[in-house]
Amino acid sequence: MARQKTKYVCQECGYQQVKWLGKCPECSQWNTFEEQLATPTRSKSTSQAKAVSLTDVPLNTGGEIRTRTGIPELDATLGGGMVSGSLTLIGGDPGVGKSTLLLMVAGRLADRDLPVLYASGEESVEQIRMRAKRLGVHSDTLFLLSTGHLEDVLTAAAKLKPLLVIIDSVQTMSAEDLPGLPGSVSQVRGVAHKAMVFAKQHNTATMLVGHITKSGDIAGPKVLEHFVDTVLYFEGDGRSSLRALRAVKNRFGAAGELGLFEMTSTGLTEVPDASSRLLAERNIGVPGTAIVATLEGSRPMLAEIQALVGPPGPATPARTCVGVDRSRVLMILAVLQKTGVPLHDRSVFVNVAGGLSISEPAADLAIAVAICSSFNEQAVPSDYVVLGEIGLVGEVRSVPGPILRLKECARHGFRNAILHESLADLDIAGLRIQGVAKVAEVLNRLC
Ligand code: TYD
Ligand code: MG
Repeated sequence: MARQKTKYVCQECGYQQVKWLGKCPECSQWNTFEEQLATPTRSKSTSQAKAVSLTDVPLNTGGEIRTRTGIPELDATLGGGMVSGSLTLIGGDPGVGKSTLLLMVAGRLADRDLPVLYASGEESVEQIRMRAKRLGVHSDTLFLLSTGHLEDVLTAAAKLKPLLVIIDSVQTMSAEDLPGLPGSVSQVRGVAHKAMVFAKQHNTATMLVGHITKSGDIAGPKVLEHFVDTVLYFEGDGRSSLRALRAVKNRFGAAGELGLFEMTSTGLTEVPDASSRLLAERNIGVPGTAIVATLEGSRPMLAEIQALVGPPGPATPARTCVGVDRSRVLMILAVLQKTGVPLHDRSVFVNVAGGLSISEPAADLAIAVAICSSFNEQAVPSDYVVLGEIGLVGEVRSVPGPILRLKECARHGFRNAILHESLADLDIAGLRIQGVAKVAEVLNRLC
């Protein structure tokens, strides 16, 4: 009998190789290769696929069927509700609140007599019942199943015909006909694929929980992102009870949308007015802070950037950043140094107040202003907002979505906004817009 062909698959990133390797050339992890049966390639003669002309394809104008989950922050992140037959992956660190969020979704739907199946490979039905009690979820169209076998979940789903199936988590479910232990790349990928086939065949919306591994990818890592319809990341960094739900991929809406929640003792509460929440404990008249209007998807948010510049001295001054990208701050420090602010021997700490993380370069100017404000011990006037990316030669660049941002500033009582000169003609009621071209001009005006 011919020997069955095998391949070696990295359990961290899914990279495949015909030989065993100690170190993965893709993700640089050690001892992650596992032997698996190679799936036979399909012979040409059995293929049924045929190319058709674009104009021969019937135009489906009916669109997808959406159901509101009853949690507006989640519905907005999904692009207007949950789509029937879609597969959504919800990734996040263990303990961030994925199970809590999904049990709340299940409860809201079941309260409207819509059937939901919540399958958990992590908790017993008694444990889920206790959590549900804490969240005030009490409904007889919410069905619970505690199992580690995907077959059990699909059998129950075929019988119950729920509107939504929740699988918590993809790492704790296994399929009998697949190799590897639960949580291995082949199992994670196979389980998600079977869930996808079921979702499409039965037109059932399905949500899969995926824990993130230490490397920051969704475990069974990146391997799921490309074939699920929607990928949501649930983020929280332990600094505060604030949780952000971010759509990084969405076949049924815009990627980049963001929903905000707060973890409380009775579950997650929504944060519809993020700016008020983030500016609630704002420090007015104190050197070392600046306000920025960031944009996440279509959602503008005002946030306070704080900076502390230490006295001159240390041989290797600290550069510590929380909530902003450190390499971005290092670049801003280099530009400031060149502009004439002597920071080379100063320790610099930068923080976004309120527990939010900002990754967009539009916050550069506010970071620079906060740092200079601390350095000069000069507070920025409290009704100013600064917006702009900083370039390497000290120039200020424009930002995307300026109108959304500026309207949010005006709504929260700010009177002055500084941004790139190309945007100085914008007319926003109540706001005086000042255009600039260089970082140095902004520093001269404000601190
Ligand atoms: P959980 O949803 O179990 O996280 P995940 O499924 O992402 O691993 O949330 C666990 C944390 O949330 C746990 O530390 C307790 C906390 N929590 C609350 O603070 N309030 C609540 O009402 C619930 C249910 C959990
Ligand atoms: Mg969980």
